[in-house]
Amino acid sequence: MDQKTMEILKGLKGRSLMAPFDFSVEELDALFCLGDDIIDHPEKYAAICSNKILATLFYEPSTRTRLSFETAMCRLGGKVIGFADPKASSVSKGETIGDTARIIGGYADIMAMRHFVEGAQKAAAMSCSIPVINAGDGGHQHPTQTLADLMTIHRLKGHFDNLTIGMCGDLKYGRTVHSLLMAMSRYENVKFVFVAPDELKMPQHLIEELGDSISFVETKSMEEAMPQLDVLYMTRVQQERFDDKEQYERLKDSYILDKEKMALAKEDMMVLHPLPRVNEIEFDVDEDPRALYFDQAIYGMYVRMALIVALLGLEPGVTTWEKTKRLPIEIHPEAKAVPCTNPKCVTNNDRAVKPLARPTEDGHWACEYCDTVMK
Ligand code: CP
Repeated sequence: MDQKTMEILKGLKGRSLMAPFDFSVEELDALFCLGDDIIDHPEKYAAICSNKILATLFYEPSTRTRLSFETAMCRLGGKVIGFADPKASSVSKGETIGDTARIIGGYADIMAMRHFVEGAQKAAAMSCSIPVINAGDGGHQHPTQTLADLMTIHRLKGHFDNLTIGMCGDLKYGRTVHSLLMAMSRYENVKFVFVAPDELKMPQHLIEELGDSISFVETKSMEEAMPQLDVLYMTRVQQERFDDKEQYERLKDSYILDKEKMALAKEDMMVLHPLPRVNEIEFDVDEDPRALYFDQAIYGMYVRMALIVALLGLEPGVTTWEKTKRLPIEIHPEAKAVPCTNPKCVTNNDRAVKPLARPTEDGHWACEYCDTVMK
């Protein structure tokens, strides 16, 4: 890694990751460069976290995110504490997110949290002294999945500019596509094709927020989209986010990727999927060399290794016993106590978290935790 990349990485020390825009494009590039170095020289990093502890607080089920974070820390020589089931913690006795985070901040050096409540990680970060990583908050954001997605594109495509990216399936509740759309909106000449039924379209507030920085078309036809795409990002219909179970049953098999549809695609199109898959990709597509979702999960582990190293501000061969202190979470200077209208927001689900909203350019208020715009 060159000197400039190392200087950029130093700027990540003590930061938290809540959403893709928390890091600049330059910082992301530096992180992927560190990921490359970890892949190429694992021995350099095998003991870098030897006196560090990662806490994984998972209030929702997970296979990849939790276990790749835990594996990442083990591969860096560190240790892991945490829970995969909140029923086994004092959350089940009514402990708030803030109190839990404050306690864990005293035990561990860095925390990865998944929560079904939107904005929970921001509330956690504001209550504790260590860097906090959002490992998925309800239907809102999943920024480390985006790191995995981008690391895969970086390794296998080699560039982010000039790509046409199809996002297919549940674009309403799929937090991974929200985060990926934000992240990719910052690269040159990227076009998006949103493939979704009316009920599961990309949220309007996100499209409005990104404004001219995204160029997109919407379609209901996968067949129409396939020939144009450089990347097809398939998603699962998020059963757990539906209030109306009949609607889920009706929509769950809206799009199924099969060999016939793959025959319509470019020879070098990448198929990505954050996984888990249910029915949306047929198993025989796995044999197609363009099916890269299992590689994506592996790159997710490497980029989480890079993220842990960067947020803790560690360097190979340098041992530090000093705890990395969390830098302040940015809050808009004109933020006010405007109640959030999103019932899934942390401000409506945790008695210790008070409403806080920032003014938007068009005269509304947006929640500082879940980004819901109050109109
Ligand atoms: N992609 C992803 O977040 O998978 P898990 O739910 O298994 O962590």
